[in-house]
Amino acid sequence: MTFLKNTWYVAANASELDEPMVSRKICNEQIVMFRNSDGSVAAIQDRCPHRFVPLSMGKRVGDTLQCGYHGLAFDGTGACVDAPHDDDSQKARACVKGYAVVERHKWIWIWMGNAAEANPDLIPDFGFFDDTEKFTCCQGYTHMNGNYQLISDNLLDLSHIHYLHPGVHEGSNFEDFTNKVKREGDTVYSMLYRHHYHIDAAKRPMYGMVEGPEDVEGQGHARWDAPGVLFVDTAFWDHGTTIDDGYRTPNAHLITPETETSSHYFWGSGRTFMLDVPQVTEMAAATMKTVFETQDGPMIEAQQRDMGTSTDFLKHNPIILKADAAGVMARRIMQQKIKAEASGSDLAIAAE
Ligand code: FES
Ligand SMILES: [Fe+2]
Repeated sequence: MTFLKNTWYVAANASELDEPMVSRKICNEQIVMFRNSDGSVAAIQDRCPHRFVPLSMGKRVGDTLQCGYHGLAFDGTGACVDAPHDDDSQKARACVKGYAVVERHKWIWIWMGNAAEANPDLIPDFGFFDDTEKFTCCQGYTHMNGNYQLISDNLLDLSHIHYLHPGVHEGSNFEDFTNKVKREGDTVYSMLYRHHYHIDAAKRPMYGMVEGPEDVEGQGHARWDAPGVLFVDTAFWDHGTTIDDGYRTPNAHLITPETETSSHYFWGSGRTFMLDVPQVTEMAAATMKTVFETQDGPMIEAQQRDMGTSTDFLKHNPIILKADAAGVMARRIMQQKIKAEASGSDLAIAAE
C-alpha cells in the first residue's frame, strides 16, 4: 500500500515532547522527535547512517541527538554536526532525513513528503483546542492494529454508536437522525441532526455530572479531511434555544498510519460546560479511552484480522449500507489523491 506523503499527519501530542525525545513509526518510517531550546520541534529519521541503530538509543546534547554507539551527532534538520573521530568531509555525507513539523492545537503535525510543499495553512482547523475561554479539553492516544482507513470509516458511520457503545450517548439511534452527507473540495461532511427528543439525564454516563436539559435538539456533525483527520462536533441543547446555549462536545480524531495494518489514534475532546471541574475532564478522557480501547479498537482489529494484510476494504465486496455514504466518499478521495501523487500530478482533484 502506498501512503499519501504530501499531507499533514499528527505525529505526537505536544505534551509528549516534554520528554527528551519521542520515537514513533509513521507510514513505515521510524522518526525521532525532540524539542529544541528555542521551543521549536524537530523530527528526523531515527536511524544512524553508520551502523543503522536508532538515534533514539542515544542522548540529547544541546539541540542535537548524539548516537549512542560511536557518537555521531545530528541536528534537528538531520545534518550531521559532529563526527568526533573523522574529518569534516564525513559529516556532509552522514546526514539523515529531516521532516517539516508544525506544532498546532496542542499536536505535532508532520509532513511526510517534500518539505518544500509543507504549507501549515493546510492543517484542518481544531481551534476549539486553543479557545480556553470557551472550551475545556482533554487529549489522549490509543494504538490500534488496523489500517487507518478502517478507523475513518468507523468515525464517519456513527450508526455503530447505538450498538457498540450502548448507553454512551443516550438517544443516539441512527434511525432517529437525519443524515446529510456532502463533499466540499476534498472535505467530506456527514451531518446528523435529531429534532426535539427526550434525554433521560440519569442515563447519560458521559455527562452524568451535568444537570443538562432533557427536552432537546441534538447533532453529531463529522468533518473528514485527508488522510484521516476528523472533527466530530456533538451537541445537544434545550428545544427552543440554540446550540450556542447548549452542551457542546467537539472532538478531534486524528488517525495516523503506523504501518499498513496499524495506526496511531490521537484523540481530543472539548466541552462547553463545567469548565472548571477537573473531575469532568478526567471522566471524559477515561470514557474516551475505554470506548476506543475496549469497544471500537477490538472491532477494528477483528476487521483487520479478517482482511489479513489487505488494506483495501472495498475490494472485499462488502455490503454497503446507507450509513456508509461518507466513508465511501472519503475512501474515493484518498484513492484519487494517492493516485495523483504517484503520477506526479499536483492538479487539484475536482469535486464531484
Ligand atoms: S552507529 Fe551511530 S555513530 Fe556508529
Ligand atoms: Fe465508536
